[in-house]
Amino acid sequence: MIDLSKYLRCPHCGAPMRVTENQKSAVCDGAAKKHCFDFSSSGYLNFSTPSQSASGDSKEAVRSRTAFLESDSYLGISESITDSVLKHCNGGLVIDAGCGEGYYTNNIAQKYNGDVIGFDLSKYGVEHAAKAARKKAISNSFFAVGSVFELPVGGECADAVVNIFAPCVEKEYARVMKKGGVLITAGAGEDHLLGLKKAIYDTTYKNTERDDMPKDLKLLEEKRVSYLLKLDNNELISSLFSMTPYFYRTGESGFKRLAELDSLETEIDVVIKIFRKEE
Ligand SMILES: C[S@@+](CC[C@H](N)C(=O)[O-])C[C@H]1O[C@@H](n2cnc3c(N)ncnc32)[C@H](O)[C@@H]1O
Ligand SMILES: [Zn+2]
Repeated sequence: MIDLSKYLRCPHCGAPMRVTENQKSAVCDGAAKKHCFDFSSSGYLNFSTPSQSASGDSKEAVRSRTAFLESDSYLGISESITDSVLKHCNGGLVIDAGCGEGYYTNNIAQKYNGDVIGFDLSKYGVEHAAKAARKKAISNSFFAVGSVFELPVGGECADAVVNIFAPCVEKEYARVMKKGGVLITAGAGEDHLLGLKKAIYDTTYKNTERDDMPKDLKLLEEKRVSYLLKLDNNELISSLFSMTPYFYRTGESGFKRLAELDSLETEIDVVIKIFRKEE
C-alpha cells in the first residue's frame, strides 16, 4: 500500500492530505475548512471539478483503448518505457501524467520497487486502472482523477514523471519533479501508424513532432521503438483507429474503408525522450 500522505496535496487549498483511520476518505489539513474526498469502491480518488472532468476521455474511448492495449500490441512500447524508469529511478515516486486506463502505469508498477501514481481526467480510465491493479494484486500503484495542469501532489516529490500520448505540461511536471528527477515522454514518431493511414486515406503525411515538448528541461536521451504490427481482425483495427487523433477528423468514406479492413500491417514508430531536471 502506498502512503498517500507523503505525496497528496489538496486541490482546493494546497494543504497536505491524510487518509482517515477508517480508510474511507482522504482529508486535507487546511486551517479553516477540511476538504474531504471519499475513495470510490474501486479504490481511486476523484479530485476533479465538474468543469474539468468534461475534458477527460469518454467511456467509449476508454473501452476501445482498453480492448486494443489489452491485446499487448503496444507491449514493446510499454517495456521500453519501464526500462527507462528502472534505469533512472530507484524506490521513489513515479507519476504517470495522463495515465488513461493505467496500462503503462500498472506495467511499470509490476517491475518497479517504488510507488507509482497515475492521474487522468477521465474517471472511466481511472476506474479501469484501479480495478486492473486490484485484479492483478498490484499494491504499489494508485490512481486519481485529476488534471495534469494542476497535479494534486506536493512540489519535488517525484523521481520521475511519465507522460505517454497525453498533454505535456512542462512547468507543472518540473514543479513536482525532484531535482535530478526525470520526465519520460512518449509520442508518435514520423512513421507511426503509416500503414493504418494508408488503408484509410488516399493521401498520407508523415507525423510532425508535437508542439508541447519541454523547452527548459535538459534532454538526456532519445530512443525509438519501431516495429511492424500485424492485426488480423476488424475489431482490433477499429479500436486502434479510435485511439488516434484521425478518428475525429475522418469522413464517411474513411469509416467505410475502415469497416472493410479485416487485416492490417502498420508501422509502429514511437519516440521516447528523457529529460532531466537539473540539480
Ligand atoms: C491518448 S490518451 C493516452 C492515455 C495513456 N497514457 C495511454 O497511452 O494509454 C490521452 C489521455 O489524456 C487524458 N487527458 C487529457 N487532458 C487531460 C488533463 N488536462 N489532465 C489529465 N488527463 C488528461 C485523457 O483523458 C486521456 O486518457
Ligand atoms: Zn483543502
